[in-house]
Amino acid sequence: MTEHVILDMCCGSRMFWLDKADPRAVFCDIRAEEHVLCDERRLVISPDVIADFRALPFADATFPVVVFDPPHLERVGPNGWQGKKYGKLNRDTWREDLRAGFREAFRVLKPNGVLIFKWNETQIPLSQVVALTDEKPAVWQKTGKNDKTHWLIFVKSGAGAVSGEPDHLMHYATKRIVELESLLLVDVAETVWPAEVGMVYSQVEIAGDLPAHHQRRLKHHINRMWLEKMPVPAIVTAARSLAAAMENYA
Ligand SMILES: C[S@@+](CC[C@H](N)C(=O)[O-])C[C@H]1O[C@@H](n2cnc3c(N)ncnc32)[C@H](O)[C@@H]1O
Repeated sequence: MTEHVILDMCCGSRMFWLDKADPRAVFCDIRAEEHVLCDERRLVISPDVIADFRALPFADATFPVVVFDPPHLERVGPNGWQGKKYGKLNRDTWREDLRAGFREAFRVLKPNGVLIFKWNETQIPLSQVVALTDEKPAVWQKTGKNDKTHWLIFVKSGAGAVSGEPDHLMHYATKRIVELESLLLVDVAETVWPAEVGMVYSQVEIAGDLPAHHQRRLKHHINRMWLEKMPVPAIVTAARSLAAAMENYA
């Protein structure tokens, strides 16, 4: 089975899809309907999943690509073809509805995932719509009659962009902290260090204020850097940073 890597949050009749049955995509819409338009053509809205883009039924960080082409008209005739094709915005709630749509899009996107957003400015300027999300588009292209159609591409920030931080990032960060701590906090026995260690140690101003076990660790790290033939100024700089970090763990 092909993995679903694209979410179309409100697919309508899939007009802009080259392959309207693209197996990589999950097609969602809030309605399933069929109409015959005035030119006798059939308009079929048949989503894979009936879903509301304000509350999508998918887990956080699921898709690398999301497509969001919501209704852009708040005024349409009761039986007009535009309403059938594009749906209609609720006059009173459209700002909240689209705000929730953006929030959901970024929630279900993986870190660094791409959101493709389309808007037509016939009735509502795009500036009012982009103000409904804090994310900033990377690409913005106008097309169509009088440049009224806009295509925006957003790239979700790598980490911490949404609530519900992916578990694997948390896991990675925790693992790194444990690794760094074990590097920094090696258990060091009482010993006599070579004179060179004492020479560098004396240049680390805050060393004398550290607890005895940290002072031993600091000398151990200086000794290792010395044995690895690091230049003395670099050892002093590294030792000062280590001492500052140890102060936080004192
Ligand atoms: C502009 S059309 C999409 C056209 C589509 N991109 C295409 O290529 O044919 C917007 C669609 O959003 C759907 N829609 C409106 N409100 C929705 C909601 N809350 N959740 C999901 N879909 C919604 C409408 O039913 C309509 O089909």
